[in-house]
Amino acid sequence: MRATSSSSAAAATPCSNLPCLHGHGRVGGRTTAYAVAACLAVVTFLAVAALDPGTQAASWFMSSSSSSSLQRRGGVAGELLLATSTSFSDDGGRNSTGKEVHEEVQPGDDGDGFHLSSLTLVNASSGYGTPGKVPVPIPAPAPSPPAKESATNAVQDRPQMQRRRDVKLERLELGLAKARSAIMEAIQNKENRPPLIDKDYVPVGPIYRNAYAFHRSYLEMEKLFKVYVYEEGEPPVFHDGPCRSIYSTEGRFIYNMEMDSRMRTRDPDLAHVFFLPFSVVKMVKMIYEPNSHDMNPIRRTISDYIGVVSNKYPFWNRSLGADHFMLSCHDWGPYVSSANGHLFSNSIRVLCNANKSEGFNPSKDVSLPEINLRTDVVDRQVGGPSASHRPILAFFAGGNHGPVRPILLKHWKDRGDPDVQVSEYLPRGVSYTDMMRRSRFCLCPGGYEVASPRLAEAIYLECVPVVLDDGDYALPLADVLNWDAFSVRVRVADIPRIKELLAAVSPRRYIQLQRRVAAVRRHFMVHGGTPRRYDAFHMILHSVWLRRLNVRVTAAAAG
Ligand SMILES: *[C@@H]1O[C@H](CO)[C@@H](O)[C@H](O)[C@H]1NC(C)=O
Ligand SMILES: *[C@@H]1O[C@H](CO)[C@@H](O)[C@H](O)[C@H]1NC(C)=O
Ligand SMILES: *[C@@H]1O[C@H](CO)[C@@H](O)[C@H](O)[C@H]1NC(C)=O
Ligand SMILES: *[C@@H]1O[C@H](CO)[C@@H](O)[C@H](O)[C@H]1NC(C)=O
Repeated sequence: MRATSSSSAAAATPCSNLPCLHGHGRVGGRTTAYAVAACLAVVTFLAVAALDPGTQAASWFMSSSSSSSLQRRGGVAGELLLATSTSFSDDGGRNSTGKEVHEEVQPGDDGDGFHLSSLTLVNASSGYGTPGKVPVPIPAPAPSPPAKESATNAVQDRPQMQRRRDVKLERLELGLAKARSAIMEAIQNKENRPPLIDKDYVPVGPIYRNAYAFHRSYLEMEKLFKVYVYEEGEPPVFHDGPCRSIYSTEGRFIYNMEMDSRMRTRDPDLAHVFFLPFSVVKMVKMIYEPNSHDMNPIRRTISDYIGVVSNKYPFWNRSLGADHFMLSCHDWGPYVSSANGHLFSNSIRVLCNANKSEGFNPSKDVSLPEINLRTDVVDRQVGGPSASHRPILAFFAGGNHGPVRPILLKHWKDRGDPDVQVSEYLPRGVSYTDMMRRSRFCLCPGGYEVASPRLAEAIYLECVPVVLDDGDYALPLADVLNWDAFSVRVRVADIPRIKELLAAVSPRRYIQLQRRVAAVRRHFMVHGGTPRRYDAFHMILHSVWLRRLNVRVTAAAAG
C-alpha cells in the first residue's frame, strides 16, 4: 500500500503553510454551538431514517435491492444520477457491518454503474422503510395546544423541546422533499423546457447524464443545502489537511468547507448533513507509527471522535450516521472508516480510493477525484493543442506497482513504438506535462489503489483519458457526468490490444471526445482563493447533496 512509505507520501504541504489557512475563522462561534447542543442534548431521540420510496418515482427512489438494477437501465434512471437500492435493515441500528452491505451491492450495469440508493434504516419494530410506500412529505405539526394541566415547568419542558426539535427536522426534510420533486420534474420534462437561467454557466450536452436535471439539482443545492462542520478536534489532524500532493483534494475540501460561508451553517439544527472534518493523511503523518503496518491508532482516533460527537450532540444517533459524511483521499480511507460500523455502512464516505470491490457503494458513497497539486492552483496547467499537433497515440509514465500497471508495463514498456509510449521513468529533461500535451490519449491505470491523478491531469491538458479498469473503480462525478462521452475505457485483458483499439477511434470521434474533455474540465478545476461555482469543490458537495436526498431522517422522541 502506498502509505507504508508513509512519511514521504504524507509529507504533503499542509494547508496551514499556505495562504489558504490564514485568517481562519473557525474558533469563533464554538461556544454558541456548544450551548445550543448542550441544551438539545437533554432530549433523547430515537433514530429512524425512513425510506423515501417511490412507485411512480421509482427512478429516483428505488425501493428494493434485487429488482432495481433492471429498472435502472431504462427510462429516466439511466439518464441521470439515480438509483437502485442497497436497502438494508439495521436490526435496531446496532449491528450493521460493512460486509453485509458490501454483499448486497449490485454491480453496476456499466463500469461507472451509478446508482443512488434509498437508504433504509429501520428500528426493530417500526414499519418505517417498508418498500413501496409513496413518499409523503411530513407536514409540520400544528402548534402545541396550551398545556391544560399546567404542571411545573420541569415537566413541561421536555415535550415542548421535543416538539420544537421535531419541527425543525421536519422542516428540513420538507425542504428536501420539495427539492426532490423539482429535480424529478426536471428529469421528466427536460425536453420541453427552456434552459435554466444562470449567469455563470449552463450545463448542456452529452458530457452529462442529464444536463437539465443536473442544473436543476445544482441550483436547488445552492438554494437550500446546509452543512454543519463539527468543531471538535484540533489541527492538524482535524480541520486541516494536505493542500498539495496527490492528496490535495482532501485538504482542499476540508479547508474550503471550513471557510465556506454559503453552504456551511454554524447552527446544527439547520444542517442537512454533518461533516466529520478529520484528515486521514494527517493521521498517517501524526499518529501512525511508520512501517508498523498498524492502523489501529488511526482507527481508534476516528472511532473516539465519533464517540465524542455522538455523546455531545443528538445528530449522529438520530440517523445512525446516515446524514454524516467523511472525506479522504488517502488509500487507507476506506479501511480506517470501518473503525465504526455505522460510518462504514451508513455514512456518506467521500473517497479517492473508490473501489467497488472493497465496500465502496456508489449509491451512498462519493468518489473523490485525485488531483496532484504542485502549486496552489491548476489554472496555469490547463489547455493543450488539437489532435493534429499530438503525434503520440498513447502515453503513460509511472511506477510499476498496483494490480494494473505491471501488465501495462510488461506489454508496452520501452517498446520503441512511437505510437504507444509507455515507460516507468521519463528521461531527464523530458517533461511529463509536455508528453501529455503531445499525446492524443493518456493512459490512466490506478496505482496501488484504483484512483489516479492522471484522469484530472489528462482532462486539464485536453488529452483524452483512457481508464484501464475492469469495473472496480467508481469514477469521480459519475453521478452527473457521462464518462463514456469524453473518455475511453479499456479492460485490463485488452491491454495488449491498446494500440489497435485506440487507433480505431476515428479522427472525427476523436475531435468530439477532445472537445468534450475541454468542456468537462471546469468540474475538475481547483481555484486559488474562493472556490467557484461548478468547480471540483462544489461538484463534490453536489455529490454529497444527491446522496443526502436519498435519505429521510425522522426523529421519534423517546423518553
Ligand atoms: C452482528 O452480526 C453478526 C452476524 O450477523 C454477529 O456475528 C455479531 O455478533 C453481531 N454483532 C453485534 C455487536 O451484535
Ligand atoms: C421503533 O420505532 C417505533 C416508531 O417510531 C417506535 O414506536 C418504537 O418504540 C421503536 N422501537 C424500538 C425498539 O426502539
Ligand atoms: C448516543 O448513543 C450512545 C450509545 O448508544 C450513547 O452512549 C449516547 O449517550 C447517545 N448520545 C446522545 C446525545 O444521547
Ligand atoms: C479493488 O479491490 C479488490 C479487492 O480488494 C482488489 O483485488 C483489486 O485489485 C482492487 N482494484 C484495483 C484496481 O486496485
